[in-house]
Amino acid sequence: MLKSRVILAMDKPLSYQVLKEMENELYGIKVGLPLVLDLGVDKTRELLIGLDVEEIIVDFKLADIGYIMKSIVERLSFANSFIAHSFIGVKGSLDELKRYLDANSKNLYLVAVMSHEGWSTLFADYIKNVIREISPKGIVVGGTKLDHITQYRRDFEKMTIVSPGMGSQGGSYGDAVCAGADYEIIGRSIYNAGNPLTALRTINKIIEDKVMKC
Ligand code: XMP
Repeated sequence: MLKSRVILAMDKPLSYQVLKEMENELYGIKVGLPLVLDLGVDKTRELLIGLDVEEIIVDFKLADIGYIMKSIVERLSFANSFIAHSFIGVKGSLDELKRYLDANSKNLYLVAVMSHEGWSTLFADYIKNVIREISPKGIVVGGTKLDHITQYRRDFEKMTIVSPGMGSQGGSYGDAVCAGADYEIIGRSIYNAGNPLTALRTINKIIEDKVMKC
């Protein structure tokens, strides 16, 4: 049984003590650019390095040539996984990043469908081709777009699907998992709560209850 379906989106610092209290009730932590800009790389590493979570995912939504993306990820070696955009294409970009991450036993997630209203699906076929060619560990599909989650689950049976957009952006906890996602990414609803641990526990329970029925 999974300990949790929640990945905490840390876009704002939480104390080490609070994180330590939450570690057994989280699947992973997603590190956002605002957090690293606030704390700097060294303090971010110090905050995260002793935590017992399955995955630390850096989400800078990389979208550059291979050389630059490799230079970014090599400075963030405390993470297991990195999120990059898929629209940047394969040759000279994602192929180089994927080779580098494979060689260093790190994982890649590619953005497939974003959670916000203005995301265009005009490039969906192209994005799917890039995902097929690169074969990342996982993909990011917005939790506000449940039909897309189901469709991507059908098209990429074995890939991990992580879904942001739950809570603050309007997605209902548990719906993304019921639609086919493996984990739900949740930020503000946890880190802005008066008691983040209580908020996490409540969300875990809602997801668990919903998953039993779907
Ligand atoms: P909140 O506070 O809204 O945080 O729970 C959501 C987190 O997820 C990120 N985010 C996305 N990342 N594709 C992504 O790769 C998306 O469609 C998407 N929507 C939100 C956001 O950066 C924040 O860390």
